[in-house]
Amino acid sequence: MSQGLPYTLLTSAEGREVYNLPAATLPNDASEVELALAEDGVARIDMPLSGSDFERLTTAFDICTSEFPQLLPPYFDVDARKGHEAGYRRKDLKLNRSQQQIADPKNIFHFSELARNRWDETHADAPDMLRQFLDDGFEIQNILLGVVREHLERLEASHPNMSRAYFLEAAPQTLSFMRVLSYDGYVPHDNLKAVASPHYDLGGFTIQAYADAPGFWGRASGHKGPETDTKYYDTAHGQAYLFAGQEHAKLYGDDSFIKPLWHGVERVIAPEATYAPNRHAIILFTDTPLIDHANCTADTKPHLQSGYEPVDIPSQPVANERVA
Ligand SMILES: [Fe+2]
Repeated sequence: MSQGLPYTLLTSAEGREVYNLPAATLPNDASEVELALAEDGVARIDMPLSGSDFERLTTAFDICTSEFPQLLPPYFDVDARKGHEAGYRRKDLKLNRSQQQIADPKNIFHFSELARNRWDETHADAPDMLRQFLDDGFEIQNILLGVVREHLERLEASHPNMSRAYFLEAAPQTLSFMRVLSYDGYVPHDNLKAVASPHYDLGGFTIQAYADAPGFWGRASGHKGPETDTKYYDTAHGQAYLFAGQEHAKLYGDDSFIKPLWHGVERVIAPEATYAPNRHAIILFTDTPLIDHANCTADTKPHLQSGYEPVDIPSQPVANERVA
């Protein structure tokens, strides 16, 4: 590795020392992004991709999953430490003991830079639509990674050296994955819970790049903060949201003014609606390639560990699922 970094995994504390990450205080001349991250835990950022760029990808995904799901690359663990997967998964509806719907049926695809070469070989002769989906997805992932890099480099003013921990000079240069979600359409009923229940993301930084339905919310004061702090964020074309996950907190302890965002996605359905069409979202998760932050489920949903909220029992066991 360059700069004397060992090619071994570091703990969070070692990472902080090796990358020399001092306490991160809000500067007097803070940028708009820094101010938003400090105040709301999430910043609205410009997106060099249009809504139609994302729609093209989600449309291709829907065509592939309906016409030849068996030809999509099946999911596999890219990095079990980080909960990174690549490939296609179909997730079924899940009910809790009260028969409330706690997970919507959906199709998920994860793009990972570490899967690209493999799929170039295994899917060289895939149908044109699938080949196009894979190529477009990797191109969008690269563009989103460029957006993260740009913002982390700007955050160097308040977080010296931080971008070095995410963007290495030698392989593996980055560790990210881009999630493409397509939720099934449905007839609304009374037993529906949130689209995404409240949680922290596991990774370092997340870009909520695209969503074609409202409901995304965040609470800067975290899972113990008052509900009145909750703010909703519409997804505007040409814009996206940047926020931190638990890896950032593990790197900095309490020293950074950027805290992991407590967030979720509520179900927003007009009262007169008789059918909710399928919804799509595209999200990029960027992590530190050489630091093992010992991620665990309690990082994403600590409220379920503290006993003050009933735990929903999934109808099927879910192993090592990364919540994001
Ligand atoms: Fe999330």
